[in-house]
Amino acid sequence: MYCTRKVTDDLLWVGADDRRLAMFEGVYSVPDGVSYNSYLLLDEKTVLFDTVDHAVEKVFLENIEHGLDGRSLDYLVIHHMEPDHSATMKAILAIYPDVTVVCNKKIQGMINQFFGENVVKNYHLVGEGDTLETGKHKLTFLMAPMVHWPEVMVSYDSVDKILFSADAFGTFGALNGALFADEVDFFGDYLGEARRYYTNIVGKYGTQVQALLKKAATVEIGMICPLHGFVWRRNIGDYVEKYQQWSRYEPEVTGVMIAYASVYGNTENAANILACKLREKGIKTKVFDVSVTASSEIVAAAFEYSHLVFASTTYNAGIFISMDELLRDISSHNLQNRTVAFIENGSWAATSGKLMREIIGGLKNMNILESTVSIKSSLKESQLSEIDALADAIAATMPAPTPSSRRP
Ligand code: FEO
Repeated sequence: MYCTRKVTDDLLWVGADDRRLAMFEGVYSVPDGVSYNSYLLLDEKTVLFDTVDHAVEKVFLENIEHGLDGRSLDYLVIHHMEPDHSATMKAILAIYPDVTVVCNKKIQGMINQFFGENVVKNYHLVGEGDTLETGKHKLTFLMAPMVHWPEVMVSYDSVDKILFSADAFGTFGALNGALFADEVDFFGDYLGEARRYYTNIVGKYGTQVQALLKKAATVEIGMICPLHGFVWRRNIGDYVEKYQQWSRYEPEVTGVMIAYASVYGNTENAANILACKLREKGIKTKVFDVSVTASSEIVAAAFEYSHLVFASTTYNAGIFISMDELLRDISSHNLQNRTVAFIENGSWAATSGKLMREIIGGLKNMNILESTVSIKSSLKESQLSEIDALADAIAATMPAPTPSSRRP
């Protein structure tokens, strides 16, 4: 049975939630599920914006059949070829063989790559700024390469002021019956998952997201329809501002994220003592055990916090496995503009500090504090002064609190 929601009088959400997926893209846990959004415009011509993942194909096809109510499908706009949005395209082509696929040249190439040549009978290729009139509505296509793949484009309905934003402005989390962000407490309940989605999916491509935001700023936007998560129709500026911050690699929180890798608890002990000392100075802290918390959550926290401390034991003459993976993950997501310090541990020949420094040192605009606290097996009373000195050095780089950032 179909399950749809009205976005506007002639635009229908025909997507679906997936709560059975364990790992999105095989990497990111989605404990609260994820939605695959698709939209059906019922103008003089009918237009389907993107398809969905295989997992929800059955209800998706029922949604479209219900939405079309006997009409044919005239256009299928493909914004992004990643299979969470394109996997059911072949089913659409089988049911509506005369549909015209609207896409750019790169998307056409990827359709051939995924499905083989000649699966599409009719193409309407578009480039930057090209338009398509569907009756009352007029769509303008804007290229958005690397948000999140090279072929990505977005489209703008200049009549209803709707931006179909592809992966941009998405979030993890099922919709659970809500469609609009203003139907839930988005900033209270979903911002963490939106940040984890942004940082892990498109975090690497801040420059390209900035380019898209610049293009979007040239038109009046009354609604954003992304491919995952909620439709935005109110307080759009608040969410756009988050995208501005994230894509400029600006921290949201002045404070210290401490991530540690500890085999027998001694490196953890040093990390906890540092956290206590920072809190005593009134500095906000968040501490993660990298062997327990998934990398995607720590990557998101690294984007959130202004200061990062990585504490790792030495393992096989290198960085402990889970810390090595985290640092490379952070590095491949192109994090920038942070103050960073290190704690290393080694019962003999500690090397993790130097090696962690090399990975983070390769990132742009990182202020890496000079001294590494080096522990031999466990922290000694005599070394507490070094932790104090590290806390002092971190505090010295903290901006003075502004009246708005003070907490009671
Ligand atoms: Fe939701 Fe890049 O696909």
